[in-house]
Amino acid sequence: MSVIGVRSKRLLIANRVYRSACGPRRWHFLLGLPAGAVCAEIGVFRGEFTRSILEVTKPGELHLIDAWWERYGDHYPAEWGAFSDYGRLSTRRAYDDAAKVVAAAPPSSRVTTHVGDDCEILETFADGYFDWVYLDTSHQYEDTVRELDLLSRKVKPDGFIAGDDWWDDPRHVWAGAGVAIDEFCLANGWRVDRRDVFTQWRISRRGS
Ligand SMILES: C[S@@+](CC[C@H](N)C(=O)[O-])C[C@H]1O[C@@H](n2cnc3c(N)ncnc32)[C@H](O)[C@@H]1O
Repeated sequence: MSVIGVRSKRLLIANRVYRSACGPRRWHFLLGLPAGAVCAEIGVFRGEFTRSILEVTKPGELHLIDAWWERYGDHYPAEWGAFSDYGRLSTRRAYDDAAKVVAAAPPSSRVTTHVGDDCEILETFADGYFDWVYLDTSHQYEDTVRELDLLSRKVKPDGFIAGDDWWDDPRHVWAGAGVAIDEFCLANGWRVDRRDVFTQWRISRRGS
């Protein structure tokens, strides 16, 4: 391929990544996760970040886990504000949007969608199954404690747990997630090996 060909291919890829709904704040973070992996996005919503996971990390096997209507009924809560279109966004619509992203995924990324409570679904996988997981669910303290406890068994010994929304401000509505991650690492010999200003985080076992 000519230099111009290589440049325009790079530009095309950069443009596609830029246009993807997660925007630059999170695709940069994804570049730090191993490509071609067996992985999961836990908390999928409309599949916006799923598209980025597919584009940037090119997974070998991707599991999408979300409760959609099983947790929230017909519509997402109005208190989610613009995120749920003030309660007008239906959970089926969010699922259908995610399904379109899945339909456009390359066959080399085998994608499976699971509807239901994340912990119940994750229990069905063998221990040490995932290379990495991306956790983006309720961000509530109790939920995160439960999820991390389970995920620490479900990722490989040298695997990662990553996620969204680690806020330091104790007044933040999602502050509980960060407290749970900190406590989990201290109690279980895990370390925080990446955090960024866009609230992305990644943890792994010490010594791995
Ligand atoms: C913040 S959204 C995920 C956004 C998505 N990761 C993205 O970046 O585009 C949170 C999602 O987590 C799901 N969720 C919350 N608690 C859950 C649970 N216990 N099990 C499964 N899904 C859950 C909700 O249905 C919602 O779609």
